Amino acid sequence: VSESFDIASATGSYAVHIQPGGFAAFLAERQNSIIVADEFFASKLPEDSTSTPLFYKALETTKSLDVAPALIEQVRRAGANRQTHFVAVGGGVIQDLTAFAASIYMRGISWSYVPTTILGMVDSCIGGKSSINVGPYKNIVGTFHPPQTVFVDPMFAQTLPLDQQASGIIEAAKICFCHGPASFQAYLSSEARPGMEIGPLTSLVSQSLRAKKWFIEIDEFDRKERLLLNFGHTFGHAIEGASHYGISHGVAVGLGILCALDFVRGGPSPGDPYAGAPIVQQLKDHIDMILRTVPDLASQLSALRVDDAMERFESDKKHKREHYTLILVEPSGLVAITEITKSSGSKQRIQNSIQNIVDSYS
Ligand SMILES: NC(=O)c1ccc[n+]([C@@H]2O[C@H](COP(=O)([O-])OP(=O)(O)OC[C@H]3O[C@@H](n4cnc5c(N)ncnc54)[C@H](O)[C@@H]3O)[C@@H](O)[C@H]2O)c1
Ligand SMILES: [Zn+2]
Repeated sequence: VSESFDIASATGSYAVHIQPGGFAAFLAERQNSIIVADEFFASKLPEDSTSTPLFYKALETTKSLDVAPALIEQVRRAGANRQTHFVAVGGGVIQDLTAFAASIYMRGISWSYVPTTILGMVDSCIGGKSSINVGPYKNIVGTFHPPQTVFVDPMFAQTLPLDQQASGIIEAAKICFCHGPASFQAYLSSEARPGMEIGPLTSLVSQSLRAKKWFIEIDEFDRKERLLLNFGHTFGHAIEGASHYGISHGVAVGLGILCALDFVRGGPSPGDPYAGAPIVQQLKDHIDMILRTVPDLASQLSALRVDDAMERFESDKKHKREHYTLILVEPSGLVAITEITKSSGSKQRIQNSIQNIVDSYS
């Protein structure tokens, strides 16, 4: 089984292929490339290749502005010119580093991406963004430089640790939920959970990427619809940061989604605001089921300081002087950008939601 579709982008369209077990053949078709790979694959790449492999550790410090020059020097020493093609093999860290280098090397060369994490497969592999850290500032610079080809081989997920699997699955759930009820029902039918079989994972990847395709084609540069995909991320980034990145990104987003639901439920109107939208309860139950599979989540959360998370929440770039900007679920079950006036009351409600969710899993 394999499938392919195109993503339209301002700089031309690019192809996405999903094919379990297809990685070696894909690489064989791209001789004389520069392969930028996660160090995890140092002794695991096929050997019958004339390409030059360069390995990097999948650490946040790797996708930083000061690592890019070292990569560019190595690439040049290996003889790369304007016609050279980069192949990124790894998760989001390797993707961001390679996309960034490919976008600036000789004013931009072609590259392709083989995601090896579920997060990469279901989410980050399409969209064309590179996000690079500068000192303590995460994702503060970057470029739009889509790959020529995205090749998803779901077999890579088999060696992925459980918390990393949960992380990617939660991002897929988020994308499908944001796309709408039909997408989310289709998502639920793949019975996603860490350790899932390759067949269901392949359809999960397909559903999630097709849902994300809708957002990025309608709003490539993050002006309107695509912003909705930040659902769970303001709370999530706050929790991820306050755990000093001990909690993986998608897992923190899962907690963030629950905070966002709790925040609305803790609002002034009596009764359950979501009584008329059973899909919201399905989302909550599903995220809860995934979170309960994550090893060490309880100990991570027990060590987390809610006031630290709250400070990080307040410093989110999307807020304005007078109001917080949040993606919340409306009583209809649809997500929407919502402005919450800043006050001691709203601040307290936000902090209560973080506290409630932290308490539920620690
Ligand atoms: N540019 C974008 O659009 C975009 C979108 C989302 C996230 N991101 C970025 O992606 C990064 C996170 O990426 P990620 O979660 O994909 O993972 P990652 O690249 O941080 O890797 C996570 C861990 O999994 C390991 N790993 C990767 N593939 C493996 C495999 N097949 N088997 C075993 N171990 C494997 C890595 O070595 C690492 O230890 C963040 O820096 C985030 O900012 C970028
Ligand atoms: Zn995310």
